[in-house]
Amino acid sequence: MRIRVFETAAALARALARDVAASVAANPSIVLGLPAGRTPVRLYAELVRLCRLGRVDFSRVTTFNLDEFVGIPSGDPRSYHAFMRRHLVDHVNLRSSRVHVLDGTAPDAVRECARYERAIERGGGIDLQLLGLGVNGHVGFNEPGPAMIARTHCARLSRATRRANTGLFGSRPSAVPREALSVGMATILHASRIVLMATGARKAACVRRMVEGPVTPRLPASFLQLHPNTEVWLDRASASRLSTGP
Ligand code: GLP
Repeated sequence: MRIRVFETAAALARALARDVAASVAANPSIVLGLPAGRTPVRLYAELVRLCRLGRVDFSRVTTFNLDEFVGIPSGDPRSYHAFMRRHLVDHVNLRSSRVHVLDGTAPDAVRECARYERAIERGGGIDLQLLGLGVNGHVGFNEPGPAMIARTHCARLSRATRRANTGLFGSRPSAVPREALSVGMATILHASRIVLMATGARKAACVRRMVEGPVTPRLPASFLQLHPNTEVWLDRASASRLSTGP
């Protein structure tokens, strides 16, 4: 894993937006894997700014989001669909036909997950997968447990994850759905390049275990150690517990 540490979360977002813009310039029909969550909000704001300045052109870019809550329709402001529209899709020149998010209201979740896997495959696979990090070590909604599910699946959310997602649900953990659809870890590891971003002191312990601990389903993000082209982009606070220091 290659580690990059930035002074602040804002500096990280600026540098990563420039990196994404350069990747799009090098491959205008790039396939991006995208996360929701608070961490990427700054990055998306920066990409919107660069797009308005004409420094990045999303017209041929394809995106696949990592996850979506079960039972929340795409038009609902609490969905990750809506999150992506709010923070990125409505403000850049992405074509809606090339923006993909799992459908949390699909009547048959297993079919929906299989459809999504096929769509990623047909799109040629993910070129650049961006990731956030759950406080319990999840990526997407691949939750810690005794075993992991390789491919896109319906995941049961832990209490910690539901608590971490209350922001979208009026601060009430009980209002957060108990299940979500998530791209699987094997699908994530199939991407050509992975950039995981983590910011803030509350991620520091998890960052240390992800980078320095054993590869274990108890900490799904540790599986990224197995990928030959993974970068971990941190601010000083989230890097503060690494044995090499921030
Ligand atoms: C959420 C999402 C993840 C996200 C993570 C971190 O539950 N499913 O895709 O990366 O948790 O969220 P945040 O960036 O808000 O800390």
